[in-house]
Amino acid sequence: MGRHSSSALLEVDDVIVKFGGVTAVNRATFSAHRGQITGLIGPNGAGKTTCFNVITGLQKPTSGRVRYQDRDVTRWPVHRRAKHGVGRTFQRLEAFGSLTVRDNVRVARDIHGGPLAWVRPSGRSALEIDVLLDRVGIGQYADERADSIPTGTARLLELARALACNPQLLLLDEPSSGLDESETDAFGDLLKDLAAEGAAILMVEHDMDLVMAVCDDIHVLDFGQIIASGTPADIRTDPVVQRAYLGYAEVDHSGDEEIDHTTELGVVS
Ligand SMILES: Nc1ncnc2c1ncn2[C@@H]1O[C@H](COP(=O)(O)OP(=O)(O)OP(=O)(O)O)[C@@H](O)[C@H]1O
Ligand SMILES: [Mg+2]
Repeated sequence: MGRHSSSALLEVDDVIVKFGGVTAVNRATFSAHRGQITGLIGPNGAGKTTCFNVITGLQKPTSGRVRYQDRDVTRWPVHRRAKHGVGRTFQRLEAFGSLTVRDNVRVARDIHGGPLAWVRPSGRSALEIDVLLDRVGIGQYADERADSIPTGTARLLELARALACNPQLLLLDEPSSGLDESETDAFGDLLKDLAAEGAAILMVEHDMDLVMAVCDDIHVLDFGQIIASGTPADIRTDPVVQRAYLGYAEVDHSGDEEIDHTTELGVVS
């Protein structure tokens, strides 16, 4: 692909995932690159989370391959991929509710034990975690129990926990749901900074304004198939994408308003 200056950090190659009679992912091929934010979008049930599970090793593909850092990792277990820098957040929040925000991040950091890669070294690990919390924007919640914080803050805690594992490839599954508008703006800026510092970010996200604002590349999944790939400008004007989204509306998990993706994608019917 001409628009990428470097080879891919992650390559998903012709992956199929079948659950009984359901084909959740159907011959999906896409890649993610260092220094770039790649979007994976599509309607509910399109197979986005299943793709993430294949990339992290939680789900064995029925066929196809996953390449990471120029190695075939298709048969690698989850922990081995994590050790080599595959990090993720979960669509369902997974923090330890009875621990403080700071301790949740500390637990994640202690799994690898080394200094944190995504904050400037401070020399003192306890401080380092607080620098990371500040960077993500939740420093003021450091001493609160994770089950007592607002949903948006819990989303950002998921990000902090993922970053504490020193990922090179960061998979984000609907990271902005529960964030208000100014939190989403700050979150987008943080993602761009992380990419500029060399991270490869792959993001599943329903907020089209965020996707269009931050992604370098977008892949559109529909019924398990990649129906379009390109820049935000390409995707916005792609007739296949417009057809797939035409009349498609869903309830946004983060609020009570109906989001109509046809208008969000700029479709004129
Ligand atoms: N463990 C499973 N067993 C059986 N079917 C599954 C399983 N996981 C996912 N599916 C099915 O596979 C399809 C894709 O699901 P997936 O969760 O990957 O979609 P998604 O794009 O992440 O959707 P959403 O936007 O709602 O999160 C759906 O039809 C889903 O019901
Ligand atoms: Mg999902």
